[in-house]
Amino acid sequence: MLETLEAQYADALEALAASDSSEALDAWQSAWLGRRGAITASLRATGQLPQETRAAWGKRANEIRQLLTHAQEEREEAICAAELLLDLESGFIDVTLPGRQRQAGGLHPSTRILREFARIWGEMGFQVYRSRDVETDEYNFQYLNFPPHHPARDMQDSFYTTTPGVILRTHTSPGQIRAMRDLGAGGTRPLRVILPGMCYRYEQITARSEVQFHQVEGLAVGRGIRMTDLKGTVAAFARRMFGENARVRYRASYFPFTEPSMEIDVECFLCDGAGCRVCKYSGWLEIAGSGMVHPTVLRNGGYDPSEWSGFAFGMGPERSAMLRHDIHDIRYFWGNDLRFLEQF
Ligand code: PHE
Repeated sequence: MLETLEAQYADALEALAASDSSEALDAWQSAWLGRRGAITASLRATGQLPQETRAAWGKRANEIRQLLTHAQEEREEAICAAELLLDLESGFIDVTLPGRQRQAGGLHPSTRILREFARIWGEMGFQVYRSRDVETDEYNFQYLNFPPHHPARDMQDSFYTTTPGVILRTHTSPGQIRAMRDLGAGGTRPLRVILPGMCYRYEQITARSEVQFHQVEGLAVGRGIRMTDLKGTVAAFARRMFGENARVRYRASYFPFTEPSMEIDVECFLCDGAGCRVCKYSGWLEIAGSGMVHPTVLRNGGYDPSEWSGFAFGMGPERSAMLRHDIHDIRYFWGNDLRFLEQF
């Protein structure tokens, strides 16, 4: 009985060896192993055989099917390799075709500059603290020493939500309070953080102002922190950010949450201070608002202002990116125009 099977096996192997193309292999597959194939038929026949031979027949037929499947795979590999070689030899594969380009994504210019800020401040010992975009009027204004209805609020027109007292933060300064309360351990621990994040202001959109933009807030709290610490720290940052020779200057200013307050300018790195269109022929570029943390703000953060002091600053990374890359319109940042984004 089993001889029939063995003969079939031998024939199948012979036919396989004679198949020398993908098409021939397909034909072999359906003739022997396919749904109507000879081996498949032999396997199906098992059920009709007399009891004594059934088991041996079924077992061998299965083995043969497996052996043939394996042999077919090997044959297929050999044929593929041969066909590829043929293509190469006949010049069917054009090796001069340009390769397929990999689409590599780039980082948004704001992301890049934010990472650079974080790296530089990180080297100087400032850890990143993430605060929230949706704030309360208390954190955004009151704890920062803006009394209700105080005209200083007009400096930062807000987006309100339908929930009374809940607004989108107009600056990253409310994060100062959150960082002090969160990390200050009840006003017992010194602090050195930067707070990067998106801010929102209800303003006319122009080439120079958007309704959303990033800020990087900085805050240092400790015993005996002085104005000179602020100046030295900012000057060190400017050298790392804008180059070894970067010079900074300070102008008296006003913010409710710092006292004294000052605006920080860096010498225009495009004209080296000689005066150009970008610095509006002044030789200087404004890079930050800053000051010594107001005693009321320290108190609201849980610190005793008779023992603790601190400095704070707020920088605009989009401004820096605009200066660095000579971008003339801030609206490009959120316009999602690929012609702009692809340049980074
Ligand atoms: N929050 C201020 C602004 O948005 C900037 C600032 C931050 C000033 C910290 C002083 C200290 O204009």
